[in-house]
Amino acid sequence: MMLEDCKIIELPVIKDPRGNLSIVEANKHIPFGIERIYYLYDIPGGAERGGHAHKALHQLIIAISGSFDIHLDDGISKKTIHMNRSYNGLYVCPMIWREINNFSSGAVCLVLASDFYSEEDYYRNYNEFINIVGKL
Ligand code: TYD
Repeated sequence: MMLEDCKIIELPVIKDPRGNLSIVEANKHIPFGIERIYYLYDIPGGAERGGHAHKALHQLIIAISGSFDIHLDDGISKKTIHMNRSYNGLYVCPMIWREINNFSSGAVCLVLASDFYSEEDYYRNYNEFINIVGKL
């Protein structure tokens, strides 16, 4: 899996004058089952999150409210995606270094993850990540 596999998935929207509703069904709208949900909120101006890659974890990242930038890097190519729609999720496959910044005021970043939290699944050192990717 590479950077090209990391794509915006447009989620269904049920439009309603009372407010819109979007849906994520595991293994249907996204290519993995969901074992964990977490979210970032009360994010101070100028904050940077991420700064790691996952060995096996699949994730969908949604700007539930506000906006932010996600910078992806597979060790060869890089791309930046601006997230600002509640009905778009960015699918991030394993072995992708990510950094998230440029959070707007009041931004909420929701993450759906394919597995429970495990620190063993992280690469937190960029040079180590690059070395591993170079050997794949
Ligand atoms: P981290 O994944 O580095 O956050 P981000 O990528 O959003 O910047 O996690 C930050 C801290 O929170 C780290 O000490 C691990 C802990 N954590 C958990 O205990 N469980 C979780 O599900 C997550 C995502 C993080």
